[in-house]
Amino acid sequence: MRTLIRDLLAAELPAESIEAAGWVRTRRDSKAFSFLEINDGSCLGNLQVIVDQGTPGSEALHKMSTGASVSVVGRQVESLGGKQKWEIQASSVRLLGEAPDDFPLQKKGHTPEFLRSISHLRPRTNLYGAMFRVRSRMSYAVHRFFAERKFHYIHTPIITASDCEGAGEMFRVTTLDPTSGKKQAFENDFFEKAAHLTVSGQLEGETFACALGNIYTFGPTFRAENSHTSRHAAEFWMIEPEMAFCDLTGDMDLAEEMVKYLVTEALENQDGDLSIFERFVDKGLRARLEAVVSNPFERVSYTEAVSILQKSGKKFDYPVEYGHNLQSEHERWLTEEHFKKPLTVYNYPKEIKPFYMRLNDDDKTVTAMDLLVPGIGEIVGGSQREERLDVLLANMERHGLSTEEYDWYIDTRKYGTVPHAGFGMGFERLLMFVTGMHNIRDVIPFSRTPGSCEF
Ligand code: 4AD
Ligand code: MG
Repeated sequence: MRTLIRDLLAAELPAESIEAAGWVRTRRDSKAFSFLEINDGSCLGNLQVIVDQGTPGSEALHKMSTGASVSVVGRQVESLGGKQKWEIQASSVRLLGEAPDDFPLQKKGHTPEFLRSISHLRPRTNLYGAMFRVRSRMSYAVHRFFAERKFHYIHTPIITASDCEGAGEMFRVTTLDPTSGKKQAFENDFFEKAAHLTVSGQLEGETFACALGNIYTFGPTFRAENSHTSRHAAEFWMIEPEMAFCDLTGDMDLAEEMVKYLVTEALENQDGDLSIFERFVDKGLRARLEAVVSNPFERVSYTEAVSILQKSGKKFDYPVEYGHNLQSEHERWLTEEHFKKPLTVYNYPKEIKPFYMRLNDDDKTVTAMDLLVPGIGEIVGGSQREERLDVLLANMERHGLSTEEYDWYIDTRKYGTVPHAGFGMGFERLLMFVTGMHNIRDVIPFSRTPGSCEF
């Protein structure tokens, strides 16, 4: 039976006979034997295999080039010169699949742009292998975080008829005419009304929070946002908790706790994967993450944030004005230059926020909150929700929303309404934060951005 290389490298005692398999990273030949470095994706480390001339299977050694797949049986021995504790003295090797000379991942540096063009092969590099193991591990930690706090996991729909954020950045879902393959006319659409890919599971999540108490969703969300930046994707994963009997402070507390929990997970449990980001992406990564875990985040109101920005004397591309959204350059200046730590900005002007946020007593601001982090800007957006039926209806009217189409949402306020709050965390932005990777296209297996839907 095959042993994972991660288990083999971590073993306390050597095994007499062990089987491993993987892809060749490098091969070095001498007269009497060859060294194969193989990786099976289970961890960052490679397994060194020594194959003496004459070992069964060694006649195919010349085909075991970078990228080829092999399996090996042998004795686990202490590695003297190698980077690892153990290596394998092969008793037999087998070539499973060769990789001709045009294998694109020959041993040399590759640009991220090139690697994006081979997204189907890039997880075979050390850096992207680590990236997607971290992504997997972090997904697991998200579920553990909520399970430990007794939240229920709700699968909100991918296809919806509502526009949660009201920004109109939705992908329309249509069908093809089965005979011509052409798009059908709207009238004949499958759902007999306009349907879209969800921009957020929040509204449906709220209905479940108003029944099960604390819930979360964690799934893909879609935005037809024509933003060509390093932090916007058309398809991204969002983590959205929603809590009944909770206010804005409780909401901000949970977001901070969750960021710290996930950063701790990255620091403690990545089987060495973090080290490759430190080496090639961000030298100060570990120190930066440790500081995030051990210090409280800052909190300022939107009004204070605007005043700090205006007094800064800094020349921004976009001037800072009360009543306008903070631009990414403003958010980054606040966290990177001013506070030098994660920061939650709360109570935004109602005009720039969606209909569902709770109106404050000043009648001007809503209980919105955005959590901003150095290097990225916003990674969390959330709010306390408007639970008062009359105020909600007035908000909806102001935003031009049909009360008929949202009657199901209104019912949550009509029947047994409760204060409640929640937020959405962009999973890719969190991953950028914990790995230091600079571009959202490099933290998702197959990225979708404007003009780009390969694979
Ligand atoms: O701030 P947003 O738009 O908030 C909502 O969608 C709320 N309905 C969430 C809620 O309260 N349940 O998005 C939440 C987060 C952002 O802070 C950001 O991290 C991420 O989702 N995000 C994106 N990530 C990648 N690409 C995009 N185009 C993103 N748009 C939002
Ligand atoms: Mg937002």
